[in-house]
Amino acid sequence: MSLNILGISAHYHDAACCLLRDGELVCAVEEERLSRVKHDPRLPWRAFRFCLEQGGITLPEVDCVAYYEDPAKKLARQIWMGLQPGSSPEARRKIHGRIAATLGRVEREIREGLGYEGRIEILDHHLAHAASSFYYSGFDDAAILTVDGVGEWATTTFGRAGGRGIELFEEVRFPNSLGFLYSAVTAYLGFEVNEGEYKVMGLAPYGKPRYIDQIRSLVTLGEEGQYRLNLEYFDFLEQERMFSDRLVALFGIPPRPAESELLPFHHDVARSLQWVLEEILLEKVRFLHGKTGSRNLCMAGGVALNCVANARILREGPFSDLFIQPAAGDAGGCLGAAAVAHVRLTGERPRQGRLDHMYWGPGYSSRDVAELLAATSCRGLDFRGRTGELIEATVDRLAEGKIIGWFQGRMEFGPRALGARSILADPRRPEMRDRINALVKMREAFRPFAPAVLAERAAAHFDLDHRSPFMLETSQVISPLDLPAVTHVDGSARVQTVDRQATSRFAGLLEGFERRTGCPVLLNTSFNMRGEPIVCTPADALLCFVHSQIDTLVVEDFLLDREQVPSRWRELSPPPRRPEAAISHQVYTLL
Ligand SMILES: [Fe+2]
Repeated sequence: MSLNILGISAHYHDAACCLLRDGELVCAVEEERLSRVKHDPRLPWRAFRFCLEQGGITLPEVDCVAYYEDPAKKLARQIWMGLQPGSSPEARRKIHGRIAATLGRVEREIREGLGYEGRIEILDHHLAHAASSFYYSGFDDAAILTVDGVGEWATTTFGRAGGRGIELFEEVRFPNSLGFLYSAVTAYLGFEVNEGEYKVMGLAPYGKPRYIDQIRSLVTLGEEGQYRLNLEYFDFLEQERMFSDRLVALFGIPPRPAESELLPFHHDVARSLQWVLEEILLEKVRFLHGKTGSRNLCMAGGVALNCVANARILREGPFSDLFIQPAAGDAGGCLGAAAVAHVRLTGERPRQGRLDHMYWGPGYSSRDVAELLAATSCRGLDFRGRTGELIEATVDRLAEGKIIGWFQGRMEFGPRALGARSILADPRRPEMRDRINALVKMREAFRPFAPAVLAERAAAHFDLDHRSPFMLETSQVISPLDLPAVTHVDGSARVQTVDRQATSRFAGLLEGFERRTGCPVLLNTSFNMRGEPIVCTPADALLCFVHSQIDTLVVEDFLLDREQVPSRWRELSPPPRRPEAAISHQVYTLL
């Protein structure tokens, strides 16, 4: 008899579900990929159903559902927020709504929404983050650092893990939060909270760290792992805004309206914020190393997706080896919830070793694609049984400067496209960044695209002496080739190293491109339109292909050039550019 544990994250940012069977990961998917609602926080019933189907089990065969945070503790924090003396009536009204939404909700929804009657395990949010890293790291022992906006009360935790499980020995509590520090300045810079932090990180290299003193004054470092936000600069406790008028006065310049021009001032603030975040993380990582003595560090939580900070922690920090769970944000919490439930049920560590790929989502057969194409009258080229020719035909088009929508195998779990649902192009062409932005991504011109490189060639092109399969750190470009479409303004790149064992077809494509051009690198960005989740199904890919006007779609064994799309579809005008959401100063909606 197998032990089937379903892990669930929900009700905050990115809902997700995974299946752990006998301590080994079977599948995992974010609800947004299936519902097509970006960052969908609702109970992930579609993802839950996918996990049952992928695992070949029915509801009665589920031994446990593990939930990634404790709603009772979260409720206590929400009530504390509702009692803040300075809070506005509007903020109080909203917090009452959130309290009502938390009260008794989780178990009721799991019972009624999923029809599940068996055992439910509830975890603390940061324990789920910690476990999502350690139990998937392959380390025998490790120090653990989790950093996010907020869980129940904790916003940062420090711990150690080994044969006796995970011990989180220190935490920083809400409202002190490095995640909220970064989000508040993100909002001040005119970007959307919980979406724009990545943009601020991308903006930082354009600036100079002229505002380090101002950023430092927002946070006071304490003993050991502690720090405190200087709350007069933040409004998220009392108002529906992340930052206060005091913060505006500190910088002396009004907040940037969303979508307005980015000035050197904004670059400089972004650079200063990134600098101070790295400074604090490095100090806390040194404390953690001294306390645990481990040579290994595991990280998770949304702040662990800051790949520039990660690179500095690895390069300048005291740990020899670093594992960051690739779905480090809240979606990945379901992995940790399932792993801890496994420990509670069996008394043993899950068998799962170090994650060497993230292709845990839905996959589709070439037969599924053939049926789709037949139904839509698209005349795709059929390469079934001729993978080598499919690769060569794709290389032909990449070498001609075409942009390829690439859909192969099971979808990635986590925020990065890693060659299963990717848009690919020749990184040597300087015009490629603008062209992809104009056709599909419609994103800010300052943000770089990332390179994917054959693992065995990585060291020749990037200052990287180890595998980096999940794009979780940056490194300097040292390539003898000119790679303008994937090189950031400071000469860095967010590299994905590609192993044949993890993804043979994507590695085969890189090999084919190298044979043809001498370049083992491709530009790789996620396969989605701006504001939409990454495509999941062949139909999603076809729709994105038609809407985006990219040149070629390669979906499993089929290849479609734009000319093969029915003319009545091609004549449809592309959708207008979406304005960036006009809620750039908004506080976290489900705080
Ligand atoms: Fe979190």
